[in-house]
Amino acid sequence: MQITPARVEHLDLLVESWNRWFPSHYRIDERLLRQLTFDHPSWRKNRAQLAFDGDSLIGFMLAREVNDGLVVIDAVAVDPELRRQKIGSRLIQELKANRCRMGGGPSHFLPGLPEDWTPAADFFTALGFEKDWDAEDLYLTLSPRSTDFRCCTSADRKNVLEMVGSEFSQRWTDDSQARFEAGDETDILIIERDGTPVAFCHAWHFKSALLGPSIFWLRNDCPTFGGIGPVGVMSSERGQGLGAKVVEQALNYLASLGVTEVVVDWTSIGPFYQKLGFESWRRYHGYSRNLGDKS
Ligand SMILES: CC(C)(COP(=O)(O)OP(=O)(O)OC[C@H]1O[C@@H](n2cnc3c(N)ncnc32)[C@H](O)[C@@H]1OP(=O)(O)O)[C@@H](O)C(=O)NCCC(=O)NCCS
Repeated sequence: MQITPARVEHLDLLVESWNRWFPSHYRIDERLLRQLTFDHPSWRKNRAQLAFDGDSLIGFMLAREVNDGLVVIDAVAVDPELRRQKIGSRLIQELKANRCRMGGGPSHFLPGLPEDWTPAADFFTALGFEKDWDAEDLYLTLSPRSTDFRCCTSADRKNVLEMVGSEFSQRWTDDSQARFEAGDETDILIIERDGTPVAFCHAWHFKSALLGPSIFWLRNDCPTFGGIGPVGVMSSERGQGLGAKVVEQALNYLASLGVTEVVVDWTSIGPFYQKLGFESWRRYHGYSRNLGDKS
């Protein structure tokens, strides 16, 4: 077996192997794989490795370093005929990283392990990982709705990025900036007070230039797919129903485009979305090793 760094020339092979080795409702295509890896700024510190037997790919690990030596494993898979031969373990050892997380990285495929992937959970547990966060995707069938919504235009860029940057994470700021840069600004819904945005919600759909995590998997099964998230209300404006209102605006917007099914991904506030009609769809558990250890 030879282990070698993944290169952009391997994209086709990776897509083909992923689709043979993962369950079909997590199918990917080159567009999604590229967006999350070689086209993503965080991939410059990638630690992806491929395992070959001669010319045959027998395993792969997509991973990237994030900060302070923390490595996020985006995905790892081994040819089903060759499992339980320590190929997966060898790929993870290749990281030579103490502090690791499975899923939930800066450009994640999955927020963690799907809760029914028991062999994968056993594998990470055997390698010293422990279960940490819980995450859930929720699903909604969209019926005709009101046409009340306020989309962003390119003129809103500065105000929206300032608000998201001062109130929320760098990741949400980067993701919002990427939407403006991709020409997807109408997919950001806002509520304003005195001309300044105080709440925002990203919407995603079958015509968006970028793919968002909420639509990665629904697009395999529904041609008129949609998704929402992240959603945020300025801390000084919380508790007044603005969160639900901005999500409703996003749903109105998606319905106006012909979206029929919507997913919200990686949330821990299921009851908030259930009030808006969403139902639980998929659940995940984060797995990590030595996150508190900076040595
Ligand atoms: C998870 C996966 C990558 C493991 O690869 P692998 O090469 O078979 O794993 P290893 O041989 O290195 O296993 C190391 C240890 O993990 C545990 N383990 C691995 N697979 C297991 C299974 N199916 N059931 C129970 N324990 C398992 C065992 O303790 C094993 O040691 P042992 O065989 O000496 O008992 C592989 O099963 C796979 O490709 N699964 C589908 C994709 C997937 O779920 N990826 C993970 C999330 S992206």
